Formats: sequence, structure tokens, C-alpha cells
Amino acid sequence: MTIQFNDETFRDDYTFFNSPVAIARFPFPFDKDDYMYSVNMEPHETGPEGTPFDVRFDVDEHYVSEMRDRAITLDEDPLRCQSLPHMELAGWDLLELIMVSKAADYPDLFTLNRDGDRWHWINKPLGIEQRFTFGDPTTLPYGPMEYITRQAQGDFAVLDQREDNLWMDAGMVTSQADWSLDFDIGMNFFEWHAPVPKAHEMGVFQRALKFLMHVNQDTPARRLNWTMTVNPRLDTSPENYHKWGPEKRTITPENVGQKQYLRVELQTFWRLPRSNALAFPIRCYLINLEDLTSVPKWGRRLHRVLRDLPDELADYKGFAVNRPVIVEYLSKFDDGAPTSAGI
Ligand code: HEM
Repeated sequence: MTIQFNDETFRDDYTFFNSPVAIARFPFPFDKDDYMYSVNMEPHETGPEGTPFDVRFDVDEHYVSEMRDRAITLDEDPLRCQSLPHMELAGWDLLELIMVSKAADYPDLFTLNRDGDRWHWINKPLGIEQRFTFGDPTTLPYGPMEYITRQAQGDFAVLDQREDNLWMDAGMVTSQADWSLDFDIGMNFFEWHAPVPKAHEMGVFQRALKFLMHVNQDTPARRLNWTMTVNPRLDTSPENYHKWGPEKRTITPENVGQKQYLRVELQTFWRLPRSNALAFPIRCYLINLEDLTSVPKWGRRLHRVLRDLPDELADYKGFAVNRPVIVEYLSKFDDGAPTSAGI
């Protein structure tokens, strides 16, 4: 598998772009013409080939630039990565899961040699070679969770499981859809989900938690979530709202196709072996409306979903202010044809 890595930015001049290959493999999240929250969980089985579901941790053309963007965010705000003291073992679990997966799934990019607890890791795209002792944090430049998540696309929450609940006790969060690890650290499943409209009354979170408590090592699961973002910005955090919030006001009928992005999160759930913690990677994919509508059935369907979305969801997802312009733009791609079920 050969990947041509883009040299691009997710801030300031926003040079991010999707190649035709990235557009074709974009994880379009809607399987019908309308949308409401649900417990949309399924087994994280790998395949079909070439899709973001093909391997355990997808690496794509944005990898190197995303990791550079993460490093910038962490330099400015180290609290984007936090791990409470009892979570160190879960950090080693996560490091093992990611290294083993990446080395097996991308042998031309990553190598892992293990001799007992003496490990040798090579990450060719980022130019990293590291010998270390598994379980001994003094042999790595960062703690184990920070070390490996500086080399893995997407955000990561690592949840401790106790008292019939999940607790956000560790994480690496630099590409989030407007929530804060520093605010949520130490909260449980219902507490950190408190701001979400409608889903609590629908019983979504009770059922979702029950499902997650029973995820086993051999049954990883996944779901897709989505929102809308102006400009291809990864760090849409509350901490930096003053930087990206005003950009919402720059959308016009002329630029909406280029500046308005659909932001899709591929969320996966992994039981970790030693700590019994749950790892929750949140992988973000961005596509602007111009590229999205190059696939006619996506343009048609997104128009209908956004046009009919309940106001509470558009408000919560933060794009109510631009919804009329977006829907008007997309209406040009909706010829009224029926869409078939499925993506
Ligand atoms: C939103 C974390 C699992 C459904 C959120 C938010 C966070 C979060 C931090 C943002 C809340 C805010 O506004 O501050 C997590 C973590 C999970 C998890 C760490 C893993 C343990 C799930 C599951 C579901 C779910 C299994 C299944 C239905 C939702 C929904 C939203 C949400 C519907 C609103 C998203 C939107 O409208 O864009 N989650 N979540 N979450 N979560 Fe979860």
C-alpha cells in the first residue's frame, strides 16, 4: 500500500485538500434521507479494501500533516493531552494496540520488533525510530499514551470502567468538534454527554453505555458521527473558539462550496487487555461541499438531511447560522430523484 502524503495546513492559510482517491473513499455517513440520533453501533469488522474501514487504524494522505498540526496545538496548550495517574497501564495497552495494528496493516510504513519487553519501533512517514522497554515510561520521550497518539490520526479518549459507568480519565484531544478534554476530564458517560439535545430523552445514552460496557477484546465496535465545520480546521475546540467561531460569519453563497465542510467522525471502541479500560479513537474526515457534490447521490442526500434536520440538532452542531446558505447551495444538486436505502 503506497500512500502519497499531502503537505497541507489545517489553520491560517488552510491548504488542506482531498485527492480524488480521498474523495472516493470518504466515509459518507447517511444511509437515508433524514437523520436523528440513534444507537448506531456495529462491529468494527475490517473491509472493504480501500475504505477507511479496511484496517483497524486507517492511515491516509493527511497523516503527516495532521500529526504536525497536533504538535502545534500541543505546543500552544499541553492540557489537550491528560492522563490521570491510574491510567498509565491503559496508556501502555493503547500503545501496544496501535503499534501492533499499524505494523501489521502497513508493513511498508511501520515496523515493530519485540524481544520480551524490549521493543523497537520504526515509523517511516514521521522519521521516528525508538528502542524502549515496554512498561517503563523513562525509556520514552513522553508517557505511553501521549507518545503513540502523537503518531496516530484522530483524537483518543481512554475511559476507565468502574461503578457500572465509564469515566473520561485520559485522552489526547486536538481535533474535536467543540468539546474540551480539560473540562470533561474525570466525568462519567452521562455527565460528558449532558449538553447533547434529545438523545437523553430518547434513551440513547442508557442503551449505548450498556453496549459499551460489554465490548470485549475480540469485539471492537464502531459508529459514525458528523457535524459541519467552516474551513478545514481540525482544532475546533472551545479553548480556541475565538479563532474559529468568527469564521462562521465568512460564509457567502459564492464561497460556501469551498469553505463549508462536512466533518465525519469514525468512532471506534476497543477493550484494552491489562487495564480493562475502553479506548475510544475519534477519527475526523473533512470534505467540502464542492468535492462532496461531485458524487451525485451524496449531494442529493445531504441536501435532504440538512434541509429537514430538527432545529435543536442544527443549533447544537453549530451551523444553524449558515443552514439557509448551505441548503440553497445543495438544492442545486437535488433533482428530486428517489435515493435508495444504504450509503
Ligand atoms: C457527543 C464523548 C460514546 C452519542 C459527545 C461529546 C463527547 C462525547 C465529548 C460532546 C458533548 C458536548 O457537547 O460537550 C463520547 C465518548 C464515548 C462516546 C468518550 C465513548 C465512551 C458514544 C456512543 C454514542 C454517543 C456509544 C451512541 C449513540 C453521542 C451523540 C453526541 C455525542 C449523539 C452528539 C453529537 C453531535 O450531534 O454531533 N460524545 N461519546 N457517544 N455522543 Fe458521545
